[in-house]
Amino acid sequence: MKLFCIGCGPGDPDLLTLKALNLIKDAEVIFVPTSRPNKESIVLSIVQKFIMSKTQIKNLIFPMVKNRDSLQDQWKYNAEEIAKVVREGKRTIYLTVGDPSLYSTWIYIHREIRKNHSDIEIEIIPGITSIFAFAAEARLSLVEGDETLSIVPACYDLNKVKKTVMSSDTIVFLKDGRYFDNVIEMLSDVGFTDDSQIAIATDVSTNKNTLEMKTLGTIKGKKQQNQKYFSIMVVKRNDRK
Ligand SMILES: C[S@@+](CC[C@H](N)C(=O)[O-])C[C@H]1O[C@@H](n2cnc3c(N)ncnc32)[C@H](O)[C@@H]1O
Repeated sequence: MKLFCIGCGPGDPDLLTLKALNLIKDAEVIFVPTSRPNKESIVLSIVQKFIMSKTQIKNLIFPMVKNRDSLQDQWKYNAEEIAKVVREGKRTIYLTVGDPSLYSTWIYIHREIRKNHSDIEIEIIPGITSIFAFAAEARLSLVEGDETLSIVPACYDLNKVKKTVMSSDTIVFLKDGRYFDNVIEMLSDVGFTDDSQIAIATDVSTNKNTLEMKTLGTIKGKKQQNQKYFSIMVVKRNDRK
């Protein structure tokens, strides 16, 4: 009785690992996360062309709300749905965008399975995360030598991350471009200089991708047009050329 979680990379199907591809082709049941009923699963759109016609696809709802308490029951229900199928002896996989260990719905499933379905063995297949796909697309090195890198979700209380941001050479902000104006304001508040480099990308590794390279001075105080959830903002202090 084994459940595989597969990191499916940032969007380009060619960025799947061979291991992921083989497991997807071989699966009898595939579980995919989606934020609401009848909404297309992003991860499914990445791997769809590799799925065999006889494979069953099951959507699991993960509502996009910040209150974790209201989500507990849904996570429990989703894990039970998966566990039922695994116990039927079917080759079962769970798919996630990017890598499963980075802000993924898998993390909640994994916790529930360990807690309530500990007879099920788990194997996690890593995927290329949006962060490294972004760096490749932007032709940008994230850190070198003794520099430090922080990963920060933009959509929570930014006061809590000021210290981290101030002590990092490069900061990657994930989770929702609609919050990037707040991030830009916070960067100015904590003393990032106007020549700090800022890269903003949306829909990395897809054919709708966008990429802008700016400095803090040119964008602070201006409203950004970015409304995309699938957005990344990378800030580099400009002290090494
Ligand atoms: C729930 S997190 C999932 C991260 C994912 N596990 C990973 O490894 O990249 C979703 C956030 O990841 C970022 N993201 C994931 N895929 C992306 C893509 N193709 N383009 C831009 N941002 C992406 C966005 O910041 C988005 O709001």
